[in-house]
Amino acid sequence: MRPQTEPAHSTLKRAADACRVCRGTLETIIEFGPMPLANAFLKAEDFEREYFFDLAAGVCTRCYMFQLLKQPEPAQMFHEHYPFFTGSSVRMTEHFRHFAETVQARFLKPGSFIVEIGSNDGTFLEPLHRAGHRCLGVEPSANTAARAISKGIRTHLDFFSPGTAKQILGESGHANLITAANCLCHIPEPQNVFEGLNILLHESGVAVFEDPYWGDVMERTAYDQIYDEHVFLFSVSSMTSMAGRFGFEVFDLEPQWTHGGSMRYYLSRKGNKSISPKVTEWLTREKSQGFTTLKPYHGFRERCEISAEKLILCLENFKHQSQPVAGYAATSKSTTVLNYCGVGPDLISFISDTTPEKQGKYTPGTHIPVVSFETFQKTPPKAAVLFAWNHADEILKKESDFQAKGGQWIHYIPDVRVE
Ligand code: TYD
Ligand code: ZN
Repeated sequence: MRPQTEPAHSTLKRAADACRVCRGTLETIIEFGPMPLANAFLKAEDFEREYFFDLAAGVCTRCYMFQLLKQPEPAQMFHEHYPFFTGSSVRMTEHFRHFAETVQARFLKPGSFIVEIGSNDGTFLEPLHRAGHRCLGVEPSANTAARAISKGIRTHLDFFSPGTAKQILGESGHANLITAANCLCHIPEPQNVFEGLNILLHESGVAVFEDPYWGDVMERTAYDQIYDEHVFLFSVSSMTSMAGRFGFEVFDLEPQWTHGGSMRYYLSRKGNKSISPKVTEWLTREKSQGFTTLKPYHGFRERCEISAEKLILCLENFKHQSQPVAGYAATSKSTTVLNYCGVGPDLISFISDTTPEKQGKYTPGTHIPVVSFETFQKTPPKAAVLFAWNHADEILKKESDFQAKGGQWIHYIPDVRVE
């Protein structure tokens, strides 16, 4: 990888000396080197005090949970300026509306009580709230929570924990449904979540988790899914093993397109629901893919290294031909790619993004200016790296003019290619 300037390492990080779920031995799979927080977009005056930690991921040799070896303190990441708003993507908003309809049809009755952990701007709870259900969001980031509250969604400003669960139970009673989308994978102490579930969930209640799926990450060589917030990348095998350890079981699941490939897991207390054959099918499938051996994890690392080298070569080619390259969408994922590949403003002159909180700032670690999406349309580059590759359909459609006028997309998932 390209050399980087020496970062100011902070002490605010925690190293895992064993698997966070079962205390098994961790095998190191991939080391990315010094990495800033994926969402810590910053102003030029803050470059000197930037926070870095060593990003590396490994897998447990007992329960095969893929996880970060070190992670920053959650309070560093989820705070009053968290710049991710679920509602910023049209398709994500549709996805959550559909998710709400699904759980409503399957599990809710009039007056049911729903708690969403990591409720962000309330995109998921909004339709359930409008349908007359009792809804409560739990969200530690004040700015996203404020957006939910402005839509009338009751939001408890905190991390979910056994303490929070007791407080909610005292105020509102047992929850019939507890959901967490793209959230459980962010929480370094899953036992806290399961203890909280045990307290708050009604005896016959259902918990639904939806998170990026390890199988898709591996298949697409999507190493950019590995960043500070993603403490875990679950497989059906590691999720069922974790649920079992804490008195729950996965009784159903459904693959999702979101975040480049996710899995939705339906959990209940052990023995409470009949288990869908889909669960066994996925476990068998993962076994045949070797997910409970080390081989595919090491194969993934090799492919990541090749992919990063190819992307660097591709960007250097454009530079040699004096053809300007921009980035499309300053995603969290892009932070891993840019820092791992050592790509700065010399190779990518700007990144356009729709989030006002990111515009006018610079990308974490690599200091590429983030501009509005109008800038991309007004001053189109020769080529653009599609960092929001998980929204490719939506973006390629709305930016069809770019290609029509000779612009080229640089894709790096599942392979580096220019088209
Ligand atoms: P996402 O892939 O959901 O993000 P992450 O990797 O951060 O989880 O993409 C969200 C980011 O992409 C957000 O900064 C907004 C930006 N974005 C655009 O700028 N334009 C778009 O059309 C879309 C869909 C996203
Ligand atoms: Zn383990």
